[in-house]
Amino acid sequence: MRVVTIDGPAGAGKSTVARRLAERLSWRLLDTGAMYRAVTLAALRAGVDLESDQALGVLAENVAVELPPGKVLLNGEDVSALVRGVDVTRASRFVADSPHVRRRLVDWQRAFGRENDVIAEGRDQGTVVFPDAFRKFFLTASLEERARRRHAEFAQRGEAVALDVVLRDLEERDARDAARAIAPMKPARGARVIDTTGRALEEILDDMEADVRRGLVGQPAQEEDRREGPEWRR
Ligand code: C5P
Repeated sequence: MRVVTIDGPAGAGKSTVARRLAERLSWRLLDTGAMYRAVTLAALRAGVDLESDQALGVLAENVAVELPPGKVLLNGEDVSALVRGVDVTRASRFVADSPHVRRRLVDWQRAFGRENDVIAEGRDQGTVVFPDAFRKFFLTASLEERARRRHAEFAQRGEAVALDVVLRDLEERDARDAARAIAPMKPARGARVIDTTGRALEEILDDMEADVRRGLVGQPAQEEDRREGPEWRR
């Protein structure tokens, strides 16, 4: 089936953009961060040693993570809200570093992509999981803007976290995501890099939708759009 990948750092606007683009195209959304979060929640609940790839691998083999439209299910339980919490967010980096977990989740992600036309959102979708994706995007924004967005998200959920703590967490997560030995976060070859700083959501969506639709009718996207991810961090 057809796959559009949207990768980039936390707070770049990927989730909203991916969800809305999937709605506009009537494609399925593959929120891969939610998968890592669900395994993280399972690990926290089971008291698994987060530093042990082996233990995390065994855990990942024994849990079921499903993404029916709009939900995250862990062994059939709706954990959509729970996986967005601060604790899961913090601990998720250990799970994201586990080669065993990554192998398992990549298999699930590819299976999902075989069955559906998907908007696949994450860090490694264009580079590792779907290198042959029909269209690839890499969304980014300034660190300050990303921290403000995440901070507002937490506040909306009633979780009081100081802005500078969110900013430092993000910075640390970016560094780890980019330096990871397997599947480091970087713009995929052929990905179009979009900086969302200060841009209106609808305008970005219109732009991306038009880009994808151009490709859908067999016309190659404009050449100047095919920039190969230069510097994206600020
Ligand atoms: O995007 P989100 O914040 O939901 O990601 C949750 C965690 O999973 C983060 O630690 C992120 O680095 C990791 N992740 C990943 N690969 C993906 C998607 C998310 O390592 N494809």
